[in-house]
Amino acid sequence: MLKTLPKSPKHKSPVLPDGTSIDDLINVDMREVQLRVMADKDLYDLEMEKIFSKTWVLLGHESEIPNEFDYMVREMGADQVIVTRGKGDEVNVLLNVCPHRGMRVCTAEAGNKRTHKCIYHGWAFKTNGDFLGSPVAKEQMHGDMRPKSELGLTKANVKVYGGLIFANFDADGQTFEEYLGDMKWYYDMLFCRTDNGLEALGPPQRFIINANWKAASEQAAADGYHTITLHQWLGEFGGFNEGDIEASMMGVEVTSRTGHALRCQPVANKFKKLAAGFDSMTLEEKLELLPPPGVTKEMLPQLKNHLDPEQLALLVDQPPQVGGMFPNILIAFIYAPQPDGTILGLTSLHSYTPRGPDKLEFTNWIFAEKDAPQEMKDRIRKVTTGMLGTSGMIEQDDSDTWPHMTRNAKGPMGKNVTLKYQAINSLPRPKDWPGPAEAYDGFTKDDTQWNWWLRWYDMMTAE
Ligand code: FES
Ligand SMILES: [Fe+2]
Repeated sequence: MLKTLPKSPKHKSPVLPDGTSIDDLINVDMREVQLRVMADKDLYDLEMEKIFSKTWVLLGHESEIPNEFDYMVREMGADQVIVTRGKGDEVNVLLNVCPHRGMRVCTAEAGNKRTHKCIYHGWAFKTNGDFLGSPVAKEQMHGDMRPKSELGLTKANVKVYGGLIFANFDADGQTFEEYLGDMKWYYDMLFCRTDNGLEALGPPQRFIINANWKAASEQAAADGYHTITLHQWLGEFGGFNEGDIEASMMGVEVTSRTGHALRCQPVANKFKKLAAGFDSMTLEEKLELLPPPGVTKEMLPQLKNHLDPEQLALLVDQPPQVGGMFPNILIAFIYAPQPDGTILGLTSLHSYTPRGPDKLEFTNWIFAEKDAPQEMKDRIRKVTTGMLGTSGMIEQDDSDTWPHMTRNAKGPMGKNVTLKYQAINSLPRPKDWPGPAEAYDGFTKDDTQWNWWLRWYDMMTAE
C-alpha cells in the first residue's frame, strides 16, 4: 500500500536557482527520486544547511580520545570541528574556525593539548572552546568591542551514546532521544550492552570515494536486495551463507520515519550445519558458538544487567546485522567464518561524510567490547580489515556502484532518470515481534530506504 503523506503546515519546498523545487525532485506518492540529486551542487549546499547543520552527526568514539586534553579533528557536514576531551567525561565539539579572522585553529589531525592556539595571530582557547587570551594583551588586541565571553570557538551540542560521540549545531533542534526515536531499543542492543561498553580498535580508516554521500547513505538504510547480485560471491564462497539467499535469511527489517533502519537476521538460518540444534541451546551455549563481536559467555551477567530479556534473546538469536542511522551512518555486524571452523563476530561503523557534491569521505571504525580478551580484539581487527573498509572484500563491491551513479547524475539525460522505491512490503507485522518501530518480514523490500528518503524530504522541506 502506498504511504501518502500529509504535508505539515511547516512544509516549505525550497527552490533551487534553476527554478526546480525539492517537491519536483522527489515524488512522494510515486516513491521516486530524480537521479539529479546525486550530483547537484546547489542541492548539496542546501543539504549542508538543512541536514548537516540541523541533525545529530557521528564524529567518533570516546575511546579515540581516552586521556584528558586529547583531541581529534573531524568533519561535520561541510564544517570542520575539533573534538576535545576536558576533565573526566567532558567531551566538547568546537567549530575549527578562529573567531578572529577565520583560520583553522587546529591544523593537526589528533593529539593532546591543554590549550588550542591559532597559528595566525596566536589567539588561544580552552578545551571547552572558551577564549583564553591573545598575544600582546596590554594592547587589548582581542579588540575593544566584544567581551571575551563572545570570542570563544562556536560550540555544538554533544551527546555521548554508548561511547559514540554525536554533535548537533542546532540548539533548538531535536533532542538526541527524539533523533533515535523508536529505534533506540535496537541500537541499545549493539552499543549499550556491557558495563564498560565498546572500544574503537585503533584509529578509523579514512579515504575518499568519488561519489555523492547519498549514494552510500541510502544503501546503508538496510538495502538487502543488492546483496544477491553485487555480493553474489558471499553466497558462493567461504561459507558465509549455506545455500541460496532466501527470504528467511533476510530476516526482519525495522525502520521508522526517523530514517534509521536495521535488518535483524536469524543467525541459525545462515549457519544451518554449524548451528544445528541452536534453538534448544542455552544462552551461554549460543554465545559461545556465535559470539557478537567481543562478547564472551562470561559477559552474560553484564548483558542481563543492561538489556531486557527480549533484547537479549534477539541479540543472540536474530541480532540487527546491517543497517544504519540517518543521515550517513552504516552499521555492519557480520559473522565471519574462520579457517578453524569457528565464527567470529565483527562490528564496524562507517560514516559517509559529504566532501562536495561528488565526493565522500568514508570513515571506518572497528569495534569490540572493551572487556574482550586482547587476542579476540586482535582477530576482530585483522578479519574486519579484510572484509570492510579500504581493503574489504565486501565493500569493494559496494563502493564500485556509488561513483557510477554519481557520474550518471551529471548527464543531461541521465539526471532525469528516477530512482525507484516501489517494491513495498505488504505482509502483516511479524507475529510476536518484540521490538518497537515498523517491522517487515519476508523478502527485503524498499521500505527501509524509502523511510530514509522521507526523512531527507522532511528535513529539506522543514521551515
Ligand atoms: S585568525 Fe586566529 S588568531 Fe588571527
Ligand atoms: Fe553491500
